[in-house]
Amino acid sequence: MTRFILGIDTSCDDTGVGLVECLPGGGVAVRANRVWSQTVHAQYGGVMPELASREHVERIDSVVGEALKEAGLSLRDLGAVAATSGPGLVGALLVGLMYGKGLAQALGVPFYAAHHLEGHIYAAASEEALEPPYLALVVSGGHTHLFDVAREGEYQLIGATKDDAAGEAFDKVARLAGLGYPGGPAISEAALRGDPDAVPFKEPLRGQTGYDFSFSGLKTAALLASRAGAKPDDLAASFQRAAVHTLVKTTVRAAEALGRTTVVVSGGVAANRALRRAFGATGLRVVFPGQGLNTDNGAMIALAGAAAIRAGRAPSPLGVGAQAYAPLAG
Ligand SMILES: Nc1ncnc2c1ncn2[C@@H]1O[C@H](COP(=O)(O)OP(=O)(O)OP(=O)(O)O)[C@@H](O)[C@H]1O
Ligand SMILES: [Mg+2]
Repeated sequence: MTRFILGIDTSCDDTGVGLVECLPGGGVAVRANRVWSQTVHAQYGGVMPELASREHVERIDSVVGEALKEAGLSLRDLGAVAATSGPGLVGALLVGLMYGKGLAQALGVPFYAAHHLEGHIYAAASEEALEPPYLALVVSGGHTHLFDVAREGEYQLIGATKDDAAGEAFDKVARLAGLGYPGGPAISEAALRGDPDAVPFKEPLRGQTGYDFSFSGLKTAALLASRAGAKPDDLAASFQRAAVHTLVKTTVRAAEALGRTTVVVSGGVAANRALRRAFGATGLRVVFPGQGLNTDNGAMIALAGAAAIRAGRAPSPLGVGAQAYAPLAG
């Protein structure tokens, strides 16, 4: 049995390396999770792809070393290596993918290419075994995707954002309210001091029969309220409540229609306390990633690798390439 799996994610501006242990009873445990978050992009107001690739090259070796140290392991203990192959910035992805393939080949262990969103979903396996069927809501900086997972590894996209991703909306509203970056944590902190009734927001896509999401209307309403003099804390509290409401209501409606009783909620926005509280009150069994596993990290990729091994999937050919665009499901 494969015991220790190293996972690498370099899809954007975080160099993430994690280690998981496959336990004899079929469970998994995260043994290390090290993330180097690049700061070089702050001066540009957005991620500069070429700079991201170069920083990954400079950092990856030391982040792998830190992860092994945290777990008290050496390279020889590894039974498999997994790395993100897409979606993401191609140059950035290539660094982790090539490093992972090279390491697996040098050690003579299997290599698994992982899908970034499958990684976000499997981040929740750090807390509980993910047994299909379940719904998976990925709410991150680039995605707001609702999947129905009827069987292991089979993803059906049943809803997605029509415009901004949830995390992107948190970031933009935080910016216009002058609350700083990254916006998610800034909004949730400011919301503690604000009045959620202060700024009225209309529910996006009210009355829809599908399970899509939309955040551009909330963003515009936030901009108008800010110009009209709304206090940043009130804006944060009111926006957060509206964003959480639409995410939870749509997901619950989908769960009821499809007869699903378990929902996995992951991606950076899943760190939001108000969102966790609201999902906790739905009566559904809701599984969130453990601490430090919501935003991009390597442990979630090692967890996806562990799931692939458990499901008996074949290792990836070493010719597998990086993909900027790679839908998980149709
Ligand atoms: N407590 C929080 N509340 C709300 N949003 C949050 C919180 N913490 C982080 N976020 C948001 O999560 C996002 C980052 O998440 P993540 O790292 O999963 O996204 P990403 O990897 O950039 O996007 P993708 O995975 O779609 O490519 C940011 O938009 C950030 O504002
Ligand atoms: Mg991500």
